[in-house]
Amino acid sequence: MAGRSVRKRPNKQLNPKPLPSMASSSSSSRFSYKKISMFISIVLIINIVVLLSKSSNMWSIGGINAHSNNLYSIEVVNEFPHDPKAFTQGLLYGGNDTLLESTGLYGQSTVRKVALQTGKVEALQKMDDSQFGKGLTLLGERLYQVTWLKKTGFTYDRYNLSKLDKFTHQMQDGWGLATDGKVLFGTDGTSMLYQIDPQTFKVIGKRTIRYKGHEVHNLNELEYVNGEVWANVWQTDCIARISYKDGAVLGWILLQNLREGLLMSGKNDIDVLNGIAWDEDKNRLFVTGKLWPKLYEIKLRPLKKHVHVDIEHICIQMPFHFTKQG
Ligand SMILES: *[C@@H]1O[C@H](CO)[C@@H](O)[C@H](O)[C@H]1NC(C)=O
Ligand SMILES: *[C@@H]1O[C@H](CO)[C@@H](O)[C@H](O)[C@H]1NC(C)=O
Repeated sequence: MAGRSVRKRPNKQLNPKPLPSMASSSSSSRFSYKKISMFISIVLIINIVVLLSKSSNMWSIGGINAHSNNLYSIEVVNEFPHDPKAFTQGLLYGGNDTLLESTGLYGQSTVRKVALQTGKVEALQKMDDSQFGKGLTLLGERLYQVTWLKKTGFTYDRYNLSKLDKFTHQMQDGWGLATDGKVLFGTDGTSMLYQIDPQTFKVIGKRTIRYKGHEVHNLNELEYVNGEVWANVWQTDCIARISYKDGAVLGWILLQNLREGLLMSGKNDIDVLNGIAWDEDKNRLFVTGKLWPKLYEIKLRPLKKHVHVDIEHICIQMPFHFTKQG
């Protein structure tokens, strides 16, 4: 049932106009998009609650996973303020209780340093109005940022955010960035995860990301966490835990309750979940979304292995092709 409803989402992709989440648009299309996503979220939550309450025997018969299903729900351990005007496209932990963030939208794109506890913007580098900021990562003393619908990116000083250089990459587009401290990992909105040399910006490896044979399209914001690459999947409430070595999805983190909670509390102007930051020293995981008034510190809670969640419908979307502008 839930699956059928969720299937409706890719229909939007027949619409040649940019989706509401990527550009300002009429209030009616935003409204219907929200209504659909709220309905889907409610159906999903009800299903998950029903499934959790059923007996294990019943669901191990119906379920597809004989062993561990590697699915995680989340528990919120802390909530922090987040600029509700920040169209979050890149997020990382910068040490000393600060976050580094890249925001999008033409005329509003920035790179910023934000105090974790207060959400206060402590430093801000405004981008040119022709640029739409996307993924951001920190390697050494430099921030690396890619931009939407362009193959150009920028580097910035990590402390004062002054712009250092411009670079050209070989991905089809710029969506997400992360690093293991040696190479850059990048996404371009397809199902491909790239490995990029941070000196030459040449692609040195790439893998198509798959879950049980299905390509996982629309890979977006990235974070490197304990040897895995974690990716937001655009227009879903799912984070894929990816093995960059073979492209397999190792597990899924289901975050439906965050966006749903914001909508229920009357925050109707929010866009999709996007932005993962990992504090390696203190093992803290942060997530937020585009235009979300909150940033959450979360912990993962493995779902019981007999719980069946229809990942193919909840987390996997049809590919979407934006019009390239050069
Ligand atoms: C953290 O703060 C200390 C003391 O102000 C400073 O020396 C250090 O460079 C800061 N680290 C980062 C990553 O900003
Ligand atoms: C920012 O820091 C760099 C050193 O990394 C320095 O060269 C530059 O002058 C600084 N810019 C500003 C505006 O302070």
